[in-house]
Amino acid sequence: MHDVVIVGAGVTGLTAAWRLAEAGRDVVVLEARDRVGGRLLTERHGPADFEMGGQWLAPDQTALLALLDELGLPTFARYRTGQSLYLDKAGVARRFDDELPVPEATAVAIETLTKALDALTAEVDPQRPWNHPDAERLDRISFRAWLEQQCDDEEACDNIALYIGPAMLTKPAHAFSALQALQMAASAGSFSNLVDADFILDRRVAGGLQSVSLALAERLRERVRLGVDVEHVDWDEHSATVHAAGAVVGARQVVLAVPPPVLRRIRFSPGLPAERRMAQDHQSFGLVIKVQAAYETPFWREQGLSGTGFGPYQLVHEVYDNTPEGDDRGFLVGFVSDVNVDSVDRLDEVARRARVLGSLAAYFGDAARDPVHYVESDWQHQELTGGAYGSTFDLGGLSRYGEALLRPVGALEFGSSDVAGHGFLHVDGAIRVGEEIAARVLGRTP
Ligand code: FDA
Repeated sequence: MHDVVIVGAGVTGLTAAWRLAEAGRDVVVLEARDRVGGRLLTERHGPADFEMGGQWLAPDQTALLALLDELGLPTFARYRTGQSLYLDKAGVARRFDDELPVPEATAVAIETLTKALDALTAEVDPQRPWNHPDAERLDRISFRAWLEQQCDDEEACDNIALYIGPAMLTKPAHAFSALQALQMAASAGSFSNLVDADFILDRRVAGGLQSVSLALAERLRERVRLGVDVEHVDWDEHSATVHAAGAVVGARQVVLAVPPPVLRRIRFSPGLPAERRMAQDHQSFGLVIKVQAAYETPFWREQGLSGTGFGPYQLVHEVYDNTPEGDDRGFLVGFVSDVNVDSVDRLDEVARRARVLGSLAAYFGDAARDPVHYVESDWQHQELTGGAYGSTFDLGGLSRYGEALLRPVGALEFGSSDVAGHGFLHVDGAIRVGEEIAARVLGRTP
């Protein structure tokens, strides 16, 4: 019998495993896929590497920064020299430096909403948002309805909704609560931080963010077993046994390091407590397609553009220069989110590519229609993930079930970036959750 079995070799599972192994525990990691990294993946397409999952890090993501340091992984800054673009409702591309080029009244309304959100966010503990004195009321109202209660400028509401809805939770702002929006903002320190692309999308890891998982797996060596899809877990207060095709592994504790919706694939004996199952059932994945296009040159830079663009009414609602450090070619990365995913997912590959590149052309002109390479990553089609970037609660779910998602059950611990406080839905959060689980297993207060 092992000390600990960890199910899932994403950053959460690998971090927990490495901290436990360092402390001398006998630990095994079982991963269903034939690779480590989960929602982190660097793939070669043509003559270039593309990050298909997570890629950016922010200066306040200190758990990730410390681990990068420990693993000796260098970072580089996102290219951001030049003007950004804002596409208005009529599809007109307007250049700007700092302030969105919107009508004066809309700019004032955006500033007022930002101040209100910063003030409320400062009162919310991202680790325990349900403790806010007004948590139940804020969890009962959708973020969109909350915005419309504060402000009657539609374009201001559309822009603020975009930052947390399509851009972060990848759900329409009517599908999650104001409290869930506040937790997202609080997890990044403030609403202003979250909407500041220069902050939240500051740097990348040379060679890709998946290097974090690869470096941890290299240290864990034969403790990581790939291609083991855990189907069934028998558990009690003191131990658990994990079953997969061709493998039965026992341990004093089992860590399920998978996002809550993916836990539904696993059967438990005895069944999990009802509150735990309800909590999982009220969390669902958002949807986003990450689209990347490589060009012979970064032609937008010659026009004084940074490659950054926002368009709340566009198919590709945000776009950035994604050129790897030292590369002479030009790379753009954009995102198609939530209900827009539904519409393009029904198209065939050729038609979808044409629509996406048409949206990039609305930002950067016709040159954007003709990339050398075009790559999409759409995680909803992978059963072992089920969406992107992460999973969040439906209306009322966070205040009702949030705490239950954090609670261990008998010999079982649960965790992923989707239950993090600081770094919620980010790799920083996955590391924090992995370290907290390891500390609990070791009997230390995290
Ligand atoms: P993760 O889902 O990675 O790992 C779970 C693992 O469990 C997987 O490897 C899965 O195969 C395995 N598993 C599931 N069921 C199993 C079973 N029954 N048996 C065995 N194994 C099983 N973050 C960030 O910080 N910056 C960014 O720029 C982005 N951008 C971004 C873009 C896209 C497209 C995506 C999809 C995600 C991001 N993210 C991000 C989010 C980030 O990638 C994510 O928060 C973490 O990688 C999640 O790590 P976890 O280990 O918590 O879960």
